[in-house]
Amino acid sequence: MLPVSAVAHANIALIKYWGKAPGSQNLPATGSLSFTLDCFFTKTTLQKSHEDRFILNGVEQTGERFTRVKAFLDLVRVKNIACEVISENHVPTQAGLASSASGFAALACAANQFFALGLDERGLSELARQGSGSAARSIFSGLALMHTEGYAESIEAPDLDLNLLVVHCLDGEKQVDSRTAMNLTAQTSPYYPAWVASHSADLKAAITAATHGHFQKLGELTEYSTLKMHASMMASQPGIWYFEPLSMAVMNAVRDLRRQGLQAYFTLDAGPHVKVLCPSKDALILKTELEKIPGILKIQHAKSGPGAYLA
Ligand code: PMV
Repeated sequence: MLPVSAVAHANIALIKYWGKAPGSQNLPATGSLSFTLDCFFTKTTLQKSHEDRFILNGVEQTGERFTRVKAFLDLVRVKNIACEVISENHVPTQAGLASSASGFAALACAANQFFALGLDERGLSELARQGSGSAARSIFSGLALMHTEGYAESIEAPDLDLNLLVVHCLDGEKQVDSRTAMNLTAQTSPYYPAWVASHSADLKAAITAATHGHFQKLGELTEYSTLKMHASMMASQPGIWYFEPLSMAVMNAVRDLRRQGLQAYFTLDAGPHVKVLCPSKDALILKTELEKIPGILKIQHAKSGPGAYLA
């Protein structure tokens, strides 16, 4: 069996997923709508080995990270073949920048070829989801719609000019991983049922906005969805938040710049970094203005990225 390599790009949800459906299939409690980015990706090589191993950015992984990769291999391996998974993350790991999405999408794509599983895009998406909920969306380029049934599909939005400014607010890995945080939210937050119940209306409105090229409406729904998600987790016991003072400063600045006439809408995931949705015409001026905030580490300008592919 020859080694197989695959690349998948990270995606950021505009309409978030937060919470799992009951059961063991890693199905989401809600749908979601995401944007695959050009500048963040994972390249993964799968090869036969005498035992399962996971090497990430040159470092052998143990503990939870290894366990998740091994559990994924158990889903796909044939004839008990042990594997070495060698990944390079061109995206900060565990920082709320969707490294698990690109990681498991790349692994699913490589496994499909390596074990000759014969999966089409939908099957690949379902497989990637079993590693990480958001990975199902990284199989696709541009906008991807994730269904509660557990697979994603591509959404055509020819009239939309989407850019994301990724504003890095803090170095390092997050304290609480998203799986733990979303389970705690579901178990203890009184706002979680409201989050789930009100979600499909947001998703439907966002799809309509995207397919009709209504940038402002999509931007407003993007901010609304992220704030609702974070509000629900803040009301957990104990409360969880990923915002840092700098994240708040960026959010305030985005709203200020909007009042000045620029088109800009923020979104945050399970980490302190702020991603700012904007059209190309405003990207440079927004980047220049946001770079003036003291303490910002760097800002990357992302555009639409490709779906997962064999490399
Ligand atoms: O991919 P997971 O299961 O770690 O969850 C990611 C959740 C968020 O990034 C916060 C939201 C989303 O829809 O990507």
